[in-house]
Amino acid sequence: MRARNMILVMLAVVALFAACRKDPAVYTGAVGTPYELNLPAWVHDSIGPMHGGDIPLTVEGVALGRKLFYEKALSNDGTMSCATCHHQEHAFTDPRAFSVGTDGSVGTRNAMAIVNLGWSRNLFWDGRRTTLEGQAHDPVTNPIEMRNTWPVVEQRLRADDRYPSLFAAAFGSPLIDSSRVVRAIAQFERTLVSFNSRFDRYWYGGDTTVLDSVEKHGLFLFRGKGKCGRCHSIGLFTDDEMRNNGLDAFPVDGGLGTVTGAPGDFAKFKTTTLRNIAVTAPYMHDSRFADLMSVIQFYDGHIQHGSPNVDTVMHLFPETGNILSWNDRADLIAFLQTLTDEGFLTDPAFSEP
Ligand code: HEC
Ligand code: HEC
Repeated sequence: MRARNMILVMLAVVALFAACRKDPAVYTGAVGTPYELNLPAWVHDSIGPMHGGDIPLTVEGVALGRKLFYEKALSNDGTMSCATCHHQEHAFTDPRAFSVGTDGSVGTRNAMAIVNLGWSRNLFWDGRRTTLEGQAHDPVTNPIEMRNTWPVVEQRLRADDRYPSLFAAAFGSPLIDSSRVVRAIAQFERTLVSFNSRFDRYWYGGDTTVLDSVEKHGLFLFRGKGKCGRCHSIGLFTDDEMRNNGLDAFPVDGGLGTVTGAPGDFAKFKTTTLRNIAVTAPYMHDSRFADLMSVIQFYDGHIQHGSPNVDTVMHLFPETGNILSWNDRADLIAFLQTLTDEGFLTDPAFSEP
């Protein structure tokens, strides 16, 4: 055989081996049926495309992720799933101030909404994760949450005869590992989109009769002297930035600062979305406010201007507050209530399968 032919044969053998090798870390192309996310047209224009994972959404991947989101085998003693702390009817938040782990230990932060997170790059109150896949790794091993280990989770799912075929449908082979588990959960989370509130029908749908005059005045205040829209920007109702809104003169929780170690990040927290805010009490990272009136009273007179790294926007609020009358405050709350998306809170596609 001539040398050139030899090389060709060797290349062919190498290619054959490469094709047969099963590398769980590499996913080439998606398997399954493409999942059509039903987004209103304005979302693409006003907000832009969602940050995808490394695989496109598929019907099978989303279905698997949904099952895993409600799967109690993820916790050490089999009593807790993601949904134990993230309830659909509360926009996937926890109405308890602090979530409780499988051993009864209590955390220090409120469980956050899982709403439109496909557009978020800062996850957790302190922004310590940048992808939904990365985020989903953490609760399983968190010592005050599910208190489990990934090898145990993988072993349990492999031993459960329902799962290998579901993983095969979603990923092309029945292999079950933590990276596939978090990829599937993230796929499900990307389908948790909420853009059909009364506000949306008014603002984007152009139906001027959907909001009454009180709610319209609340929106006017939200965008105007309330200055809320400076950070909770219209659209997602968050700018997805890390900021200090001046809750404390001497913050206890360092927020982003504990993640980066930079003094300039101390006491900065994620600006959370105000979509569905009427059903996600209590409020703020430490659940300090029980209702929306307490939140508004904070912004209108109790901002700590001396708080470290307090956001420059907060300096636009006079220290003495009282820029909003009691009627204004009530109107602002009436507006915030128009951000509730009943269809999202009751969509059977998001409930326990
Ligand atoms: C024991 C209660 C508990 C369980 C179980 C739990 N979470 Fe959470 N979740 C929280 C709390 C509390 C936070 C905020 C923690 C922080 O910021 O430090 C949070 C934050 C999040 C966030 C960040 C949202 C944002 O806007 O940045 C996502 C996403 C999330 N959880 C998804 C999940 C998934 C997926 C699971 C299951 C694998 C899960 N959670 C299990 C309590 C829980
Ligand atoms: C400088 C940016 C900024 C402005 C202006 C602002 N917020 Fe916030 N908001 C934040 C941040 C950051 C948080 C999270 C703070 C925390 O928990 O530490 C937050 C939290 C909230 C929460 C609690 C969310 C939750 O998930 O618990 C509500 C409600 C809220 N803001 C409403 C408003 C309203 C109403 C206004 C206008 C009066 C307003 N915000 C103005 C940045 C801002």
